[in-house]
Amino acid sequence: MAAAPGRRRPAVLLWAAVCLATALAVDRSNFKTCEQSGFCRRQRGLQPGHSPYRALLESLQLGPDAARLQLVNEVTKVPLLLELWGLQGNVTRIRIKELNPLRPRFEVPDVLVAEPPVERLAVTGRDEGSLELSLGPAGHRLLVTEKPFRMDLLQGRELLCSVNARGLLFFEHLRQRRDSFSDKVSSSVGSLWDKIKTLFHRDTPREPTAEEGGAAEGQEETTGGTEDAGTQSEKPTEATAEAAEEPGSWEETFKTHTDTKPNGPTSVGLDFSLPGFEHVYGIPEHADSLRLRTTEGGDPYRLYNLDVFQYELYNPMALYGSVPLLLAHSARRTLGIFWLNAAETWVDISSNTAGKTLFGKLLDYMQGGGETPQTDVRWMSESGIVDVFLLLGPTPAAVAGQYAALTGTQALPPLFALGYHQSRWNYNDEEDVAAVERGFEEHAVPCDVLWLDIEHADGKRYFTWDPSKFPRPRDMLQRLAAKKRKMVSIVDPHIKVDSGYRVHNELRSRGFYVKTKDGSDYEGWCWPGSAAYPDFTNPEMRAWWASMFAYDQYEGSTENLFTWNDMNEPSVFSGPEVTMHKDAVHHGGWEHRDLHNLYGLYVQMATAEGQIQRSGGQHRPFVLSRAFFAGSQRYGAVWTGDNAAEWEHLKISIPMCLSFGLAGLSFCGSDVGGFFKNPEAELLVRWYQAGAFQPFFRAHAHLDTARREPWLFGEENVALIRAAIRQRYALLPFWYTAFYRSHRHGLPVMRPLWMEYPEDATTFAIDDQYMIDRALLVHPVTEQGARGVQVYLPGKGEVWYDVASLQKHHAPQTLYVPVTMSSVPVFQRGGTVVPRQERVRRSTECMRGDPFTLYVALSPQGTAEGDLFLDDGQSFDYETKARYLHRQFTFAGNTLTASSADPRGSFDTPAWLERVVILGAGKPAAVVLRPADGSETRLDFQHEAETSVLTLRKPGVRIGDDWAIVLR
Ligand SMILES: *[C@@H]1O[C@H](CO)[C@@H](O)[C@H](O)[C@H]1NC(C)=O
Repeated sequence: MAAAPGRRRPAVLLWAAVCLATALAVDRSNFKTCEQSGFCRRQRGLQPGHSPYRALLESLQLGPDAARLQLVNEVTKVPLLLELWGLQGNVTRIRIKELNPLRPRFEVPDVLVAEPPVERLAVTGRDEGSLELSLGPAGHRLLVTEKPFRMDLLQGRELLCSVNARGLLFFEHLRQRRDSFSDKVSSSVGSLWDKIKTLFHRDTPREPTAEEGGAAEGQEETTGGTEDAGTQSEKPTEATAEAAEEPGSWEETFKTHTDTKPNGPTSVGLDFSLPGFEHVYGIPEHADSLRLRTTEGGDPYRLYNLDVFQYELYNPMALYGSVPLLLAHSARRTLGIFWLNAAETWVDISSNTAGKTLFGKLLDYMQGGGETPQTDVRWMSESGIVDVFLLLGPTPAAVAGQYAALTGTQALPPLFALGYHQSRWNYNDEEDVAAVERGFEEHAVPCDVLWLDIEHADGKRYFTWDPSKFPRPRDMLQRLAAKKRKMVSIVDPHIKVDSGYRVHNELRSRGFYVKTKDGSDYEGWCWPGSAAYPDFTNPEMRAWWASMFAYDQYEGSTENLFTWNDMNEPSVFSGPEVTMHKDAVHHGGWEHRDLHNLYGLYVQMATAEGQIQRSGGQHRPFVLSRAFFAGSQRYGAVWTGDNAAEWEHLKISIPMCLSFGLAGLSFCGSDVGGFFKNPEAELLVRWYQAGAFQPFFRAHAHLDTARREPWLFGEENVALIRAAIRQRYALLPFWYTAFYRSHRHGLPVMRPLWMEYPEDATTFAIDDQYMIDRALLVHPVTEQGARGVQVYLPGKGEVWYDVASLQKHHAPQTLYVPVTMSSVPVFQRGGTVVPRQERVRRSTECMRGDPFTLYVALSPQGTAEGDLFLDDGQSFDYETKARYLHRQFTFAGNTLTASSADPRGSFDTPAWLERVVILGAGKPAAVVLRPADGSETRLDFQHEAETSVLTLRKPGVRIGDDWAIVLR
């Protein structure tokens, strides 16, 4: 839930009143612009031009794995070490760090699943000013130019990507502070100002300062002059290329917060030029269109996990999570840039289609004029090293596979997690939970999970229950279990500082909290009041956290209780930009600055591990997280945070989840209905219809909104919502199979059309429709009062079938589809088989073993294929004991054949085939079923001439068996 105005917390009442009085829009002044972020300003101050860096080609060392050579900044003379790897599967890794750093610099741990196997590099060319390396069997070559330093990655004669072509390599080497006297003066001026401020603001309600047992914060604007007090008196800079001593280099103040920077300036940056690419995507999380825009004339896209209260749409501001993966796509190829850095990062995007860059012109010249489109991307991070993976594709699927090989694939969710989730801040007590559950029963709306937000805990002490509202949690959970339903409770990482709270006492006594720069426990203000933050970067702390999910540690918890990690950016109401101070100190002495964007990933990792351990390693976890980083897909689900009940927010849920998926996070959703504000019935219904076709399907609402359970909007609307949710449940076998494939191969479940139709430029900027796996195309209605939607059906010579009418449409075309309130435009691609379970019940668990229906949508050639993955839906047995079924269905030569897609697996299920619906079929004279035993039986069928739909009734074979059905 929202960070900011805790309306019910008297301590910030004033602030809350101010924020809520202003419009429902983000208060931008709470968050830095690039200009206000010292390193971003310094880096952006460096214009494209000649790089001061030179590659010392004679220093090349070609090891069995990597090539290493030195770079030197000709102005500062500081040497850097450049390391190059060719990794198997068309990946090139480039690392740049200091040759002799004063202190170690942070290198991101725990994100890569493995060090990928390397290709042998070879020097294939050399002259005075350049060097050519071959990078592996696919013919990729890297040209390293000495002066100014740049690199060009080629395949054959095609230039794929240039590095530092614009000369924006930026590396602030670690240094001693030059003039400690003036800095001492400057910081004492700063603290004097702080004191004066405190005096003047005595009458303003404020929270206690850290020293006083809380955390300092003035949400109030500071008086003029204080902002820069910390930096004003710094020495003028020497004219170096890096402007090392610019104001803000050793100390930086934003609003009332001073960031002491004991290590001084440490930022890194690098530019990449992508000739031939006009479309770039990725780098979630931003509330923006799927296709990224150029950032010229505005701020760069920012990656810095933040709790942004009432975020605005269509801008590059940072949000709750960050994945520093950018994809470039053209009709000819796809390429990815994975910038492995967990510090605050900004990404500038420019393109020559708007205004030509120097390199673009050069390229035009080299290629004899003409317009070669080009996109330039510049990454800027506050600390760490340059560590970048170029994912060379060449297809979208290949890039997805390359990224998955580095960071892992989507965890296979327990089946129930793909069902419908009912959440609200808050379900007040056990009676409320029971009443809501009864509502689902009475209105025959399927629902798998009920959620409890922060009010369920005793005074926001997570791992506890409010004794008056939830006196018997175990009984409540058992009542849910009896109905085959689950519950999720929230467990946030801010821990109430309270000597009567066991969790706090243990964390403190074990020294597991994040520390301030002075070595005391870091405390900030959050939901429970004064709170401390467990250091999730410490593996011992994570092991302890995981142990807290044991049934005897988390009292009242049971097997059907799962977890939601919110506020894990981390959100610190009293901190700079509502997060942790960058000079806070983590395990190993690293500054929060170095690893900020990783914190949320570790929280989800430790929580998921806890759930696995409590079951003795048997059961798959379910954890929803708001903050994330590259690799978070391995730990569970994510969502788009605190959105609003507005049509525009419904619309943007599509590009946002698509960009999550491109960055490996397949299990994405947005709060159905919108978190803030009250949706009108039409918006709510449309949101349910859209949400039913997004991977994570949860309704959620703010504390101050009106109740909005599906049956509170009249008979007509509950019927529409019920229908949407039932559609979801009928398609669960298809969703589950798609997740299995994503888990195995790293392709997103919900994907942009261009992943399936990479050559069709019409698809490159589509934000209002998408594919689920390779078979369904969805175009939810997201316009108020819509009478129809324009649906683009891609694929030359392909056909699509409207899932509602079963009518066939030829592609490519833009089809006008008239809609009513019950319409959800979904199309099945000709050539696919989609499995369904059409006996929809109360929850997914109730549908286990139910019979299947296959929708066989024929291509114009009369073929189709698809698959079905099946297991117990909850354990790791599919992995550890090969207990699963992966079935393959193929239609060709008028015969539908069922075979094993993977003979390693076996799984006992009573489920059988109840119906086959063949779309685009002529009328056969007879239909014959041939089971594996060689017998033959005739099947009843029905043929609709008008729609060419052939329905085969009761084949009756077991879903795990081999069989064939022949149309004669
Ligand atoms: C690597 O690239 C080559 C040439 O573009 C391509 O044929 C091959 O399939 C790619 N390999 C992978 C694993 O993507």
